[in-house]
Amino acid sequence: MGSFDITGRHIAITGASSGFGHHFAGVLAARGSRVSLGARRVDRLDARVTEIRTAGGEAAPFALDVRNAASIHAFIDASERTFGPIDVLINNAGVEAGAKTYNMIDEDDWDFVMDTNVKGAWLTSKAYTERVINHKRSGGNIVMISSITDTRTIKGQFPYAVSKGAVTRMTEVMALEAAKWNIRVNALAPGYILTDVSRLLLESDRAPEFMKGIPMRRYGEFDDLDGPLLLLVSDASRYMTGSVVVVDGGHICGSL
Ligand SMILES: NC(=O)c1ccc[n+]([C@@H]2O[C@H](COP(=O)([O-])OP(=O)(O)OC[C@H]3O[C@@H](n4cnc5c(N)ncnc54)[C@H](OP(=O)(O)O)[C@@H]3O)[C@@H](O)[C@H]2O)c1
Repeated sequence: MGSFDITGRHIAITGASSGFGHHFAGVLAARGSRVSLGARRVDRLDARVTEIRTAGGEAAPFALDVRNAASIHAFIDASERTFGPIDVLINNAGVEAGAKTYNMIDEDDWDFVMDTNVKGAWLTSKAYTERVINHKRSGGNIVMISSITDTRTIKGQFPYAVSKGAVTRMTEVMALEAAKWNIRVNALAPGYILTDVSRLLLESDRAPEFMKGIPMRRYGEFDDLDGPLLLLVSDASRYMTGSVVVVDGGHICGSL
């Protein structure tokens, strides 16, 4: 059996200033990983890093805008100077455009969501893969944070749902292409968990109706993602690539 031990691993997380990324940083540091936190709101990263260090973990904050290739390279450079080669990259940074349909959004909404969720994840993966190839590393591991909106349709989350469809497809195609460098690429696809991204929907008047579609009749909590995340970042998933691990209380197999 592959090991779940991640002691000493360098794990870089994009979008670690709030929500999932903020949570993941603490979970992974508590298990002995050295965690690089990237996001635009550096004050929030600083606060999270202080918490992690106080708890005895190793972490460092780095300014990052995933819409900008130079910023991505600077993030990877600085984090590798601090903790050495990145063992696992978690492409978690993500935004949404509010509760809008395709005819309500404008080009700025489209570009904002696509540039962050799709182009950002691609650019960051590309920069990381170049390191693995150019430095002749033995391999790598990329974890995408997709969503169950990648496969199930929903009104009023355009272009977010479209972007997550692309993130899942990108995971599969990249897995195929990156296997020759021993880089695994998998995705975690959470259902609905209350964070800044999902608040608009989960606190709206549609929420009770929405809950009925979840077989387990509750939203997810951050901790529900910890086991599946640990699987993907560790050698326990050593024979997994191109997989999408759904964590949603059964939501995507909800009854018609
Ligand atoms: N919440 C859910 O129910 C749910 C379900 C499925 C999937 N997801 C996915 O989970 C991921 C995290 O979302 P969340 O729910 O935790 O929301 P969140 O609390 O809003 O976190 C989003 C993170 O992305 C960062 N970010 C946004 N734009 C960025 C940019 N250009 N460069 C770098 N970082 C950027 C934000 O940091 P800064 O603003 O400081 O840059 C923040 O740390 C997203 O990919 C989201 O689609 C969420």
